[in-house]
Amino acid sequence: MKKEAWGSRIGLILAMAGNAVGLGNFLRFPVQAVQNGGGAFILPYIICFLLMGIPLLFTEWSMGRFGGKLGNHSTPYILDSMSKKWYWKYIGVFGIFTNIAVVAYYTYIESWTFVYVVHSVIGTFTGMSKEAVSTFFDQYVQLSGSDFGIPLFPVIAYILVLGANVYILSTGLGGIEKVAKIGMPLLILFGIILAVRGWTMGSSFASEEFPDANAWDGINFLWTPQYSSLADPKVWLAAAGQIFFTLSVGMGSIQCYASYLKENEDIALNSVTAGFTNEFVEVILGSAIVIPIAAGFLGLDWVLENAGFGMAFQTMPYLFQQWGPLISAFAGVCWFGLLFFAGITSSLAMGTPWMGFMQDEFGWGKVKGAVSFGLVSLAMGLPTVLFYQYGYFDEYDYWGGTVSLVIFALLETILFTYIFGMKKGWAEITRGADIRIPTFYKWIMTYVTPVLLSIVFLGALITPAGNDWVAAFSNLFSGGGWPLDTSSLIAKITFADLEAQIIANPENAAALEEKKMYSGFARLQLLLLFLGICAIVWYSSVKRKKAIQ
Ligand code: ALA
Repeated sequence: MKKEAWGSRIGLILAMAGNAVGLGNFLRFPVQAVQNGGGAFILPYIICFLLMGIPLLFTEWSMGRFGGKLGNHSTPYILDSMSKKWYWKYIGVFGIFTNIAVVAYYTYIESWTFVYVVHSVIGTFTGMSKEAVSTFFDQYVQLSGSDFGIPLFPVIAYILVLGANVYILSTGLGGIEKVAKIGMPLLILFGIILAVRGWTMGSSFASEEFPDANAWDGINFLWTPQYSSLADPKVWLAAAGQIFFTLSVGMGSIQCYASYLKENEDIALNSVTAGFTNEFVEVILGSAIVIPIAAGFLGLDWVLENAGFGMAFQTMPYLFQQWGPLISAFAGVCWFGLLFFAGITSSLAMGTPWMGFMQDEFGWGKVKGAVSFGLVSLAMGLPTVLFYQYGYFDEYDYWGGTVSLVIFALLETILFTYIFGMKKGWAEITRGADIRIPTFYKWIMTYVTPVLLSIVFLGALITPAGNDWVAAFSNLFSGGGWPLDTSSLIAKITFADLEAQIIANPENAAALEEKKMYSGFARLQLLLLFLGICAIVWYSSVKRKKAIQ
């Protein structure tokens, strides 16, 4: 059978950039930036990009191309081909697992964006108060509102959007390239239109209720660097987490895309181009829309108090209304259309590792691969839709979209740098390169990136109470033990975070207990997914052994 490959260089770069540019750029980044002090966030963020993001891009692109040459298109056997030890293929399970765990809830957000495009066009939000727009969203996710008279409409919309992903995936790399070639330019265009609005509205929409509203306050807040943050581990952790999520590193999808490169095709320039395109979209466009527009209407103080994921759906449609019916419909289409394209070009990438694996190991064709991916994702995703308000969704985002990325990135870095070896690794990265990568990157990749990744992981694992490391160490040395913060990984594993909330809010104990139960189910489901993929990998290894005998 003819080996599948990317059709053109521009198609590859747009698909890779589309993989990276996603909901994270427009929904996650602004919120992270605001919650971590605006200008205080940017510096650690840029440093994390240069010292972890870029090295991980080099690592994953070259691992992928290396594995692809040997006929491996997903991380279990890409990792396996780089070491003689049996267990690497199981570590590679992360590179399929994470994608399915993330796609399960990610396509749900994608379905919101799609539905909101429709609502923007038909003028659903016209004349609604701020509270009504916000309640509209709450009812949607609680499945309590009836959209277009159809009960459980959110579930149907979710299945339709997931189905669209499955259909495109079934057309192979060609289909993905096509979507990227249409979606990426469009989303950048929509982003620029909205960003220009954000940059130019100033205080012209200040109202009686918010007389001090000024979009520039939002922009200045994000762009005035504050050097004190460099000593705050919490900001570093948030910045590192954002870099992983936004670049899609530690996920397994970059390796899969790169496995379809030709043996001597450039990695250096392509990976850097895709990475910087993502950063342009995130830092320039991502920071110029939600925050400035919200600050322009409601003032910076409101934004600081209310910054959250819901802003995009609960606040933006109301704000757009203030521009009159026509422009508001146009702005709504730009905003939710941009989110939709950003989302789908990323979720498509998340489908490919599973399909690549099934194709390599069991000879499954594209349609069978795509449909099976859709069914597994649906089984994982339906509970996130049905039990959204019980935190099911958040569990997936935390374990699948945050923790797994760091763990996998750390392990693959160790494999690439120390087991496969940096000498061979560097030769892989530079083979066929269209630019000369400064050799100090070799040094950074050998010493700096693994150390930083370990620090990020440890920092998240044992985050001390109040994020105060000095106080925690002095407590430890004076025999008082290590005071864990409720946001630490250990506190999450043991549910100490929820238990602390129950103690602090006895009046909400019943609801929190319920949340704990659903969180437990969500974790169990994730664990079963991971073990299920391990079992498939084990079965494939038995098959491989038999084939050699
Ligand atoms: N990298 C993708 C995003 O930013 C997953 O949303």
